[in-house]
Amino acid sequence: MFSMADHLESAESRRPRLGILFSGRGSNCQAIVAAVNSGHIPAEIGLLVSNREHAPGVAWARQQQLPLRIIASAGREREEYDREVVASLREQGVDWVCLAGFMRLLSAYFIAAYRNRILNIHPSLLPAFPGLEAQRQALEYGVRYSGCTVHLVDESLDGGPIIAQAVVPVLDTDDETALAARILEQEHRLYAEALRYMLSGGYYLQGRRLLRAPAPSATG
Ligand code: GRF
Repeated sequence: MFSMADHLESAESRRPRLGILFSGRGSNCQAIVAAVNSGHIPAEIGLLVSNREHAPGVAWARQQQLPLRIIASAGREREEYDREVVASLREQGVDWVCLAGFMRLLSAYFIAAYRNRILNIHPSLLPAFPGLEAQRQALEYGVRYSGCTVHLVDESLDGGPIIAQAVVPVLDTDDETALAARILEQEHRLYAEALRYMLSGGYYLQGRRLLRAPAPSATG
């Protein structure tokens, strides 16, 4: 017989489930799925959500037969939309949410529903160049180094606590496309690493700083 205790135990002992939200190409989504499939990220894919039916990432997800929901966002009020997304994620038992080129700000409702369990990737070394066209902003500013940042999502735009960063030099020959391509390569690696780290639970937050927790001592 299946008891409540069995149920609780299986929910606790199962691998954490990921929800991945995207709006476009979905290459970061693909990188996360690949890292899950190879066992590098000890998790399961709970649900992919796109807010755009014709996003290239949608065609890929269908081809891979991944659990996918299109929840179109055009013309919808932010919180009302987010309530539907959160309900879908919960239905699939999603524990962690990865924003992977999801071109919408999240409401306070969404952030509270998954507080400190929503990750985003941004193609600059935050806090430099938040918002759109980060690679173009970096070139126009004339920085010598840019890169990418994986961070926790809070109510601010690209402003939550930083989990991991990778540095990419800006070359004299770079245009936006070339710089974005080199940053993207790092994004795919960094997102998987950051996620793996967060799932390990070996960290704590001190203000904005995400610090590695000391390993538990053998003597307790
Ligand atoms: C990436 O550059 C990511 O940093 C930014 O949006 C872009 C999404 O690319 N947030 P993709 O859809 O993952 O290929």
